[in-house]
Formats: sequence, structure tokens, C-alpha cells
Amino acid sequence: MVNELPAPSSRHETVLVIDFGSQYTQLIARRIREAHIYCQIVTPAFSLSKIKALRPKALVLSGGPASVYDEGAPSIDPGIFALGVPILGICYGLQLACRVLGGQVERGRTQEYGHADLNVLARDDLFHRIGEATTPVWMSHGDRITVLPAGWSVLAETSAAPFAAVRSADGLFYGVQFHPEVSHTRHGREILTNFFFKVAGLAGDWQMKSLIEELVAAIRAQVGDGKVICGLSGGVDSSVTAALIHRAVGEQLECIFVDNGLLRAGEADQVVETFERHFHMKLHAVDAAERFLSALTGVHDPEQKRKIIGRIFIDVFEEQARQIDNARFLAQGTLYPDVIESVAAHGGSTATIKSHHNVGGLPEDMNLALIEPLRWLFKDEARRLGEALALPESMVWRHPFPGPGLAVRIVGEVTAERVRTLREADAIVQEEIRAAGLYREVWQAFPVFLPVRSVGVMGDERTYENVVALRVVSSDDGMTADWVRLPYDVLARISNRIINEVRGLNRVLYDISSKPPSTIEWE
Ligand code: XMP
Repeated sequence: MVNELPAPSSRHETVLVIDFGSQYTQLIARRIREAHIYCQIVTPAFSLSKIKALRPKALVLSGGPASVYDEGAPSIDPGIFALGVPILGICYGLQLACRVLGGQVERGRTQEYGHADLNVLARDDLFHRIGEATTPVWMSHGDRITVLPAGWSVLAETSAAPFAAVRSADGLFYGVQFHPEVSHTRHGREILTNFFFKVAGLAGDWQMKSLIEELVAAIRAQVGDGKVICGLSGGVDSSVTAALIHRAVGEQLECIFVDNGLLRAGEADQVVETFERHFHMKLHAVDAAERFLSALTGVHDPEQKRKIIGRIFIDVFEEQARQIDNARFLAQGTLYPDVIESVAAHGGSTATIKSHHNVGGLPEDMNLALIEPLRWLFKDEARRLGEALALPESMVWRHPFPGPGLAVRIVGEVTAERVRTLREADAIVQEEIRAAGLYREVWQAFPVFLPVRSVGVMGDERTYENVVALRVVSSDDGMTADWVRLPYDVLARISNRIINEVRGLNRVLYDISSKPPSTIEWE
């Protein structure tokens, strides 16, 4: 299966971010995209000729955990400095450039980590329109620059880093020791946009509206008069994919929605309502709840549950797909973070969240070509695309939800009664988090059903019922997460409502564990 949709780099001003393994690399890329500039992340192994072929308007060298002195520390082809293209080095990227271009970097004996006050010395380019004499920035580095390459000038300093921001003699290289991409650097966005617009002279041609037209044209060109199958889960990625492909090829798209009986309240109805009644798409909606539930009977182990659900999903999906005659394409909602070739992924230290979550594809004999129109987009861009395609707000901004659904939020065996109980409690959590205006602030908010019973009193009656744990976390990407310090009154309302309104529950706990070491889901 091949993906033939062309990368946007051929049609847009492109910035390449060379990833030296920083935990912030994706954040750099997102900040650039937010400034309406298309960018791609590449590894240091991406050759000079490949870089040239993409004709980037600017390069960014990311930070990274290595010391330039480490054996096997990632390096760069010095040829990039002769491309005549403006380059911004961040932290490790700056140190590396400094070393390659004749400066000196000293192995740090101590780390400088956290907040620092930046004293701005020159305001004409990188610090244009940043009025304060000192401004807070975020530092995270071990090595430090001791001698700058010839002709370089200093634009800003901190008490610990005299070369906190620098410029090369020819004005093509800029470097910052701090991290402009993180929110702790107060004027980080301005510093980055100053680099792209003032220094590199970009125009910012990455706009949602033209993006839709472009994607629609590319999909039409790839699909021709062929038929496309798309699996809908009710989540953001597949919904946006379907809406986009439908905009491009209308009736040639047929969607399959497998209701596994493990979705949140109202979600299955919303999928049918939105895609069939509103968009008038051809939708094969299958109620397979019974099939999933009976296969889960007696199963307690989380991995087993996931495997069973995955297997049945593929079976049901395939049965439906085989009923669609002459299909030539399979659409998937793969996003850019799933396909980024990152140093971390190569080194095996971090894995992207979703690799194991997506539909595994269809059998070879169906001979379908893959179509992944979102593969160059970050989630926030996919969401904005969804809004522009008139998908319902509640669908576009929906929190992430695991493929195996409520089954992995029921500790132990999954039964119809437990699913009902958890779904009702979940609906209350969603309602109250929205009512408190917190829905978009938090990454996820949900209850987890615990197979534990505790004693309570209701009126004059003694009760002996189950417990739910409430999990509310903040996160940027699901890789790390912190529990949200919810206001007590919100916690109180959620707890009161669950205990009063949901039959079978008499106690609510609040999960105050962060990731790591705990995961977001309980199973
Ligand atoms: P954990 O529990 O690993 O979850 O900290 C990280 C993020 O991934 C989501 N998640 C899933 N998403 N299919 C999905 O599409 C899955 O099987 C799955 N398991 C976990 C989880 O909700 C969180 O946002």
C-alpha cells in the first residue's frame, strides 16, 4: 500500500527542523505551523542533497540531550551553513553550530535548568518589539559556549550564559541558548516569528482555507474515479479524514462505523447523525456490541481485552469492507506525529502514542492503496480543518479516547451492567467538566470503574456498591501528564451527581497520580 498524496513542501514556503532528540522538537514545529509556516521535522541523517531538494526557506537546529562531546553525538553536514539559508540553532543546535564554525564549547560541570532572566542587548532583529530590558526565558543545558566563532555578535545574555543569543557575522545564523518554543519563555513566540518573518523574510502561506482546497485537489488527483473506504471511530482524526475525502470525492466515499458497544454516551448516535443525516454520506453502521461483549465475558487481563477487541474490530470491519464493490483506496486518519522520523524514535527511547492504536489495515487480497490526507498535520491543525469543514464542535474538540473504549476503563471483567454504569458516570463527568469551562483546558477527564464494593448509606438504607475513580489530566501529547488540580466545587458536583444519579455506585475517588510513573488509562 502506498501513500501518494504529495507533501505540502512542494507548494509552500518550507522550514526544516533538524531534530537532535529534544523533547521539545514537536513543540518547535507546532509553533512554526501556528505562525502559518509549513515545516517538516527531519533527522540529522537527512542528507544535504535531500535538504536542498526540499528548497527550505530556513532551517532550525533543535535542542537535544547529548553533549557535543559525547561519543556518537548527533552532528550535521557543515554544508548546511553554505546553503545561504537563514538557520536558527536552539540550545544543542547552537552549540553544535558554534563548534562546527570554529567556536569553543566547554563541557558543563553543572546543568543550567529552569527559569533565567534574559538581558536583551540588541533589538533590531530577533528581539524586535520586545520592550522589556529583561525577559524570562527557559534554560535547559549542560555544555556552554566559551568562545564564539569569528565575527559573531551577542544579542542577549543571562547571568550564567553570556552568549544566550547570538548572530553570525553574515547574519545567516542565529542561535539561542534558551528554549523559545516553551511557554515559560514569555516572548518565545515573538522571538521565533521575528526569526522567520524579519530575518528569513517568510510570508506565512500555510493557511487553513487554502489547505482544504489543496488537499481536496490532491485527493481528487489520487483517487480519480476510484472508490474509497474509510473507517469512522467517532474520534477527531477519522471524522476529519472522512469529511475531507467526502468534500473531495462525494459519493465515491463509503464509511464504515463499528459500534463496539464500548463508546461514550451518545457517540454512536452522533456519528450516524453527523455523517449520514447531515453530510449524506454512504455509511455502513454496524451494531456489533453483542459480539464484543460476549467475547469479553470472563476476561480480566487488560492485554487480553485489548487483543480481543482489536481482533473482533478487524473481523467486523473486514466483513463490511468486502461488501463494498470495487473499492480501491483505504483512508486512514494518520497524523504527522505518527509519521515523524525522530531521533527519539530511532534511538528507541520514546514511542509515539498511537502506533498500536490504529486500524491494522485490510488483507492484501483486497488490494487497497492507502490514503492519508492528514499525515502532514498536527492534531490542532486537524481540528481546525474539521471546524472549517463544518464538523460539530463537540466532535472536533473531543478528548482522546482509547480504541478499546470503556473496556479499558473497567478494571476486571467487562459486563453489560458495568458498561452501563460507567457510561452514565462518564456522561456526568463530561457534562460537569464542560459546564465548568474546563473541557478544552484538560487533556482527558473520565471515570474508571473499580470492581471494589464499599459500604454506604442512602436515606435509611445501607448500601454496598461499586466505586469509580475520577481521572482528570493535563498533557501536551499524552506522553507525560499531570493530574489536574480541579476546584473542590467541581469535584463535589461530579461526586454528588454520580452517587445520586448512577445506580450501582456509592463512592468516588480522585486519582492524583502523574504520568510517569502511572499511565493515563488504568489498563
Ligand atoms: P496511556 O494510558 O498509555 O495513554 O498513558 C496515553 C494516551 O493514549 C490513549 N490511549 C489510546 N488511544 N487506542 C487509542 O486510540 C488505545 O488503545 C489507547 N490506549 C491509550 C490514552 O487515552 C491517552 O490519551
